[in-house]
Amino acid sequence: MKKTKCIAFHSYKGGTGKTTLASNLAALLVRKGLRVCLLDLDVYAPSIQSYFGIRPVKWINDYLDSNGEVEEVMQDLTDIVNKTNVTLGNVSDANSSNNFSTEGKLWVGFSSAKKEEIQKLEGGAGTGNRKQFLRKFMLLREQLVSDYDADYVIVDTSPGIRQWSINVLAVADILLLTLKMGDLDVDGTKKIVEEVYNIFTGFGTPSYLICNRVSGYCVPHTYSISKDAQGVIELQKQEESSDIVNGLSNQIGMKIISSIPCYCDIQFLKKEFLTVLKYPDHPFTKQLEKLIEWLSS
Ligand SMILES: Nc1ncnc2c1ncn2[C@@H]1O[C@H](COP(=O)(O)OP(=O)(O)OP(=O)(O)O)[C@@H](O)[C@H]1O
Ligand SMILES: [Mg+2]
Repeated sequence: MKKTKCIAFHSYKGGTGKTTLASNLAALLVRKGLRVCLLDLDVYAPSIQSYFGIRPVKWINDYLDSNGEVEEVMQDLTDIVNKTNVTLGNVSDANSSNNFSTEGKLWVGFSSAKKEEIQKLEGGAGTGNRKQFLRKFMLLREQLVSDYDADYVIVDTSPGIRQWSINVLAVADILLLTLKMGDLDVDGTKKIVEEVYNIFTGFGTPSYLICNRVSGYCVPHTYSISKDAQGVIELQKQEESSDIVNGLSNQIGMKIISSIPCYCDIQFLKKEFLTVLKYPDHPFTKQLEKLIEWLSS
């Protein structure tokens, strides 16, 4: 039987790129012909909807509360991936943009942003609900593995040490902890690694750091940057930030598997969109290609 990988994106602070990375990674895996379930389990402030622009009939909340079946909650959004037009603006080899499979599948489960739904998940009146929700959540993961034959279950979480973030971390196979540069983020991330991640690592769940929005793409002219053979921008020459990135792994006590620059065209866009679909040759897409290579190695 196929081994499904359940990957959770988490972080100490908000705004580190969890949702961006989870959604784009899911879409890119689908373009590569894989079967992917994407879950928005940032239950306190769900936002994956903004990437897909649909209004679900049933939410993950309904499933957890036994008001909906898994097939009502998981929306088949494969068409969105297959029909998103590729923008050729920055494509160096026009053929590369067409080089994707239509065999992949994408199902997405959304969380409700309604106040009462969020409060319900917190356990509200008694602890009984909490146990029921947790049981249903574990069942959801199992169903996605068995009924959907998923290659990947990718889960977006809420930042910090919150009940539902911990629930997700507990059922994931790989934990990816994203962070932005800055002392608060680094210190908080170090703390979360010591207090929470080391427990999961002890139980055999590997966890890794992804440095996101690292300076190095939109660099001042006084800085120099380099590109590797595929044209991906590397940070080695930018002494200040590369020193920080290299020192981080030791400081936090976790291996860094990816260091993704901050791209202004992504940061300042008016509406979120799936960069990997629209711009297959964007350096951000190349970074995610590398991440996929690493995940499948
Ligand atoms: N590598 C990047 N370069 C530029 N902008 C980025 C990059 N990664 C993410 N962003 C932008 O940063 C903002 C925050 O990203 P995102 O919403 O994914 O973070 P998050 O960790 O999910 O936040 P929250 O914890 O609030 O849910 C978004 O506007 C996103 O487009
Ligand atoms: Mg988010």
